[in-house]
Amino acid sequence: MKLRYKILNGAIALTLVTISTLAVTLAYTKSCEPPIISAIKNPMQAVIYRCYGGPEVLEQAVIEIPEPLAHQILVRVKAAAVNPVDWHYMRGSPYIMRLMTGIGVPNDQGIGTDFAGIVEKVGSDVTKFKIGDAVFGGGGGPFAEYVLANVSKSVAHKPTDVSFEQSAAMPIAALTALQALRDKGQLEPGQKVLINGASGGVGTYAVQIAKSFGAEVHGVSSGRNIEMVTLLGADHMFNYKTESYIESEERYDLIVDMISNHSISDNLKVLKKQGRMVIVGGGKGNWIGPLMPSIKAVIMNNFVDQELQQFVAQFNSKDLESLAELMRQGKLSSMIDRRYSLDEIQDAISYSESGRARGKIIVTISK
Ligand SMILES: NC(=O)c1ccc[n+]([C@@H]2O[C@H](COP(=O)([O-])OP(=O)(O)OC[C@H]3O[C@@H](n4cnc5c(N)ncnc54)[C@H](OP(=O)(O)O)[C@@H]3O)[C@@H](O)[C@H]2O)c1
Repeated sequence: MKLRYKILNGAIALTLVTISTLAVTLAYTKSCEPPIISAIKNPMQAVIYRCYGGPEVLEQAVIEIPEPLAHQILVRVKAAAVNPVDWHYMRGSPYIMRLMTGIGVPNDQGIGTDFAGIVEKVGSDVTKFKIGDAVFGGGGGPFAEYVLANVSKSVAHKPTDVSFEQSAAMPIAALTALQALRDKGQLEPGQKVLINGASGGVGTYAVQIAKSFGAEVHGVSSGRNIEMVTLLGADHMFNYKTESYIESEERYDLIVDMISNHSISDNLKVLKKQGRMVIVGGGKGNWIGPLMPSIKAVIMNNFVDQELQQFVAQFNSKDLESLAELMRQGKLSSMIDRRYSLDEIQDAISYSESGRARGKIIVTISK
């Protein structure tokens, strides 16, 4: 065999071994070990997970109330909200995310992000918030009596006259809807937008925010949710059980897709030549399945007139404040589907995983 073929074969073998080793390492799931008992000075109830797995790995525990760093606030949680990202963390799936969350076991035992509550303590550099302020935003592990939040980008004052649960429902889902429509979608008044997955956490906000932008809003949901989404402001609805929007005569300026159940080429049939499509979610599986819709969009974007965008929402205080203002003005409200208590967290996450939620799922922590 010629030397260059030997080198090529060697390189291919090395690549395969590297990929296989990485795959085995990422998929490795260590079993749950008994907790290490240590003395707790300031106890609080919290939901933690010490290993990856189904909802059964979530347990209620007594842990230390955390101390805020200079740029953080400690919040007494009144209500928290569930998002699909919570069970992705819980399962460590897709496995590639374990590079960030921990190989074998989670690095951080707290779970959840969205919360609303009352500021209990402020870090030494914090000037924007004071003890007793009502706030909402994102933090590490709010399925607990207390949570820490970084004030620079993930927290804002709760809108006055709006409940803690209405505010707690918003952060991830409403930020996603806002940034998908405004930044990636560049939606303008009078334009026609299609929201695929209009009855879910993101979709229920997307319909209302698109209406507040002055757009004509078409939504896709199953028949049981059509009335709810229409009440939120949708001008036209498709029942995905009986009809397919990709076969309609409509032509859209923007498609925001939470489901990714149709191919991009099918979506292009109903997208105007200058139109945009924003991939928010969809795709299943433990490997690259959940990333496939975004990967396809990035590749196909090079070959079509339309703009195909993949997208991951980012926390920022200014956007949280914009959402609070929309809510204060009565242009935005959170559709609360179900409420759970802290000790029902496994049921709350299971319900989110079922993919059937109509709007948001709330975990009530304290009255
Ligand atoms: N890119 C980002 O930054 C980002 C941020 C947040 C969320 N996400 C992702 O976006 C997706 C949606 O999130 P979410 O919080 O809205 O989820 P969700 O609340 O769990 O969505 C559930 C809703 O989806 C509807 N649905 C299911 N199949 C459908 C179909 N074929 N057509 C239309 N609607 C359908 C369900 O209605 P029925 O029960 O009637 O079917 C249900 O109301 C998830 O994949 C999530 O991971 C991404």
